[in-house]
Amino acid sequence: MTKRAVPWRQAWESALYGEDGFFRSTRPAEHFRTSAHVGVFAEAIADLVGQSGATTVVDLAAGGGELLVALLPLVGTGVQLIAVEVADRPADLPGAIHWTDHLPDRIDGLLIANEWLDNLPCDVVEVGDDGIVRDVCVDPTTGEESIGSPYESVWLDRWWPLRQPGERAEIGATRDEAWADAAARVNGLAIAIDYGHLREDRPPFGTLRSYAHGREVDVIPDGTRDVTAHVAVDSVAAAAGAQLMRQRDALARLGLDGGRPALDLAQSDPMAYLTALGRAGDVGELLANGGLGDFWWIITDTTGHGRLSE
Ligand SMILES: C[S@@+](CC[C@H](N)C(=O)[O-])C[C@H]1O[C@@H](n2cnc3c(N)ncnc32)[C@H](O)[C@@H]1O
Repeated sequence: MTKRAVPWRQAWESALYGEDGFFRSTRPAEHFRTSAHVGVFAEAIADLVGQSGATTVVDLAAGGGELLVALLPLVGTGVQLIAVEVADRPADLPGAIHWTDHLPDRIDGLLIANEWLDNLPCDVVEVGDDGIVRDVCVDPTTGEESIGSPYESVWLDRWWPLRQPGERAEIGATRDEAWADAAARVNGLAIAIDYGHLREDRPPFGTLRSYAHGREVDVIPDGTRDVTAHVAVDSVAAAAGAQLMRQRDALARLGLDGGRPALDLAQSDPMAYLTALGRAGDVGELLANGGLGDFWWIITDTTGHGRLSE
């Protein structure tokens, strides 16, 4: 083990949220594109707000506030918009959007957390040559890894059993606990949206990744790049008593349709045709196989009669 190596979870926490952490000094939109940056996404969320009668929308892990800024003209002044974010309030954020660094105790309406859970640090473990599961440590300046102490976890046994030397896992217990706590505050709808996997298809070597300036880069928890890992969405859903749905199915239920505009519109109204074509492109991006459409919605509906309820 190098002198500077620390358990992955500790290195990850400081890299993203320490004093000079990645998300304290930079905005997510400078580095990657999420559903919140695709205009049509806010339209679907506005429909959800309308049909559920929510009078408050809380965006947990709001990034630069993009989703709420897009939502503001769509939902009108009767709906209170609250961004929860560890980074500072953007200087140009509309005054009608409230900005805070902690989740309200009680939320009557909609709680949405897009790509939050994948950024919650986890313990990372690996099966050693001796067949024993151990904590993985990392040097935060180089990303060089070393194997630490034996690691026992009820979560691992239940949700991500490891067998062969070299197999790895990210322990999802921190995410389960965080989302169960957030969803329990909600009277209405709580939705976490993220990329993830299920028990039957866990990736054998884990999913730790880093991104910066629109590119995938070496995984190093040094504060200059994002550190993320896919979410064990079935364990989060079980902890929060939630249902799971792919984003493409959830958005289809909310009426998003990726069909292209009729060609004769190009003749009769070229501008309308171009606008409709651009919109269809955005919808296609949100529903795409192998892309945002594969994301999971983890949904708790305490009203039990919304369009997303089974
Ligand atoms: C991947 S970005 C997603 C931003 C935005 N939701 C989007 O979809 O574009 C994750 C964000 O979560 C924020 N975050 C992480 N933990 C948080 C917490 N406990 N409370 C508030 N914000 C948090 C980070 O600062 C970062 O802006």
